[in-house]
Amino acid sequence: VSSMDDVSADALYTPLCDLLGCRYPLLQAPMAGGPTTPELVAAVSNAGGFGSLAGSRLTPTQIDEAIRSVRGQTDRPFGVNFIIAPPEEGNRDVQAAQAILDRFRAELGLAPGTAELALPESTLMKSLEVVLGHQVPVVSFALGDPAALVERCASGGAKVVAMATTVDESVRLAEAGVDAIVAQGSEAGGHRSTFPLAADGVPPLVGTLALVPQVVDAVSVPVVAAGGIADGRGLVAALALGAAGAQIGSRFLVARESGAFPAWKERLLAATEVDTVVSRVFSGRPARGVRNRLVDEHEGADALAWPLQALAADDVYRAAAARDDAEVFPLLAGQALRLLKPDQGAGEIVSEIVAQAGEALLLLASSRATGERSPAGA
Ligand SMILES: Cc1cc2nc3c(=O)[nH]c(=O)nc-3n(C[C@H](O)[C@H](O)[C@H](O)COP(=O)(O)O)c2cc1C
Repeated sequence: VSSMDDVSADALYTPLCDLLGCRYPLLQAPMAGGPTTPELVAAVSNAGGFGSLAGSRLTPTQIDEAIRSVRGQTDRPFGVNFIIAPPEEGNRDVQAAQAILDRFRAELGLAPGTAELALPESTLMKSLEVVLGHQVPVVSFALGDPAALVERCASGGAKVVAMATTVDESVRLAEAGVDAIVAQGSEAGGHRSTFPLAADGVPPLVGTLALVPQVVDAVSVPVVAAGGIADGRGLVAALALGAAGAQIGSRFLVARESGAFPAWKERLLAATEVDTVVSRVFSGRPARGVRNRLVDEHEGADALAWPLQALAADDVYRAAAARDDAEVFPLLAGQALRLLKPDQGAGEIVSEIVAQAGEALLLLASSRATGERSPAGA
């Protein structure tokens, strides 16, 4: 550990470090759909950040294996995350949705989609027991109010973190007894954590800069800023807003250990701040991702109600990923895309962000002391 690391660890210390048992208040966002491999999670935690596995869309057996794998690669704390939005009312015109997806299926050599979609039974409770059975220290939830699950997590010895997109949602989470709240600004990649979603499916889109301090003022638990944070400047900004840490997703999507397929990473590295949209087309719930043919060819069409759209498109997404095709896959990502860097390991990303945050703090302190503006690129 170099002395610069010591400076950063002291300067960046917040109560969140004690709560999560990590050196730096830097959380790697859990990202469902493959990116958050055990290798990624372990590398982040080993570097002093806090890694998280996405438990959604994995079977309890797969979660068990992933946790064992992380444990084989680190003895540091990490978390497991679940998306808990229940199925929603709304569009059930499966045939119309499949007609659009069938265009992609024809190109991918897949049979036409079925008009009969059956929602699989939820495995959440079984998965949660697997996680608690392994004594994973932190369980996090998104896209819903985990009030009914908090007690079970606590009695299982796990801290609970949950994600909100408004002050009202944050207050509800605090009342439910969660230990920390992730305030997700509209810049964020992935699903909007809005709950419940309004009938028109349009989520509030409050930016991170406006959201975080208002949430901090409204709750007494530590708040973690998320959305558009991808480097040390963003981490320091989050702390300046009163957050106790930052949760970073997109930057880790392109890490060497990330399970995002090569064309997905390449597309993100070539993309800019104007290339993403918030759309229901990916899954039936609003999510931010890079505009591609999947988005364009659904223009004007109504997506199926969550999670039917994701279920309908599942074979298309799997085939696209297997073919390394970034055009008909949900390329979920946030707006800070020019800050992404190629060819970095996740541990290297943590170290770089921490070092940059330390420098940003020094720069702020010194420019304030001398009354000078910070020189560009200093
Ligand atoms: C590909 C992708 C998948 C995501 N999946 C999840 C998830 O499963 N659970 C969750 O809590 N958040 C998920 N998120 C959202 C993150 O928690 C976080 O809010 C977001 O990544 C922050 O914005 P950023 O991408 O600009 O860093 C996902 C984000 C991305 C980009």
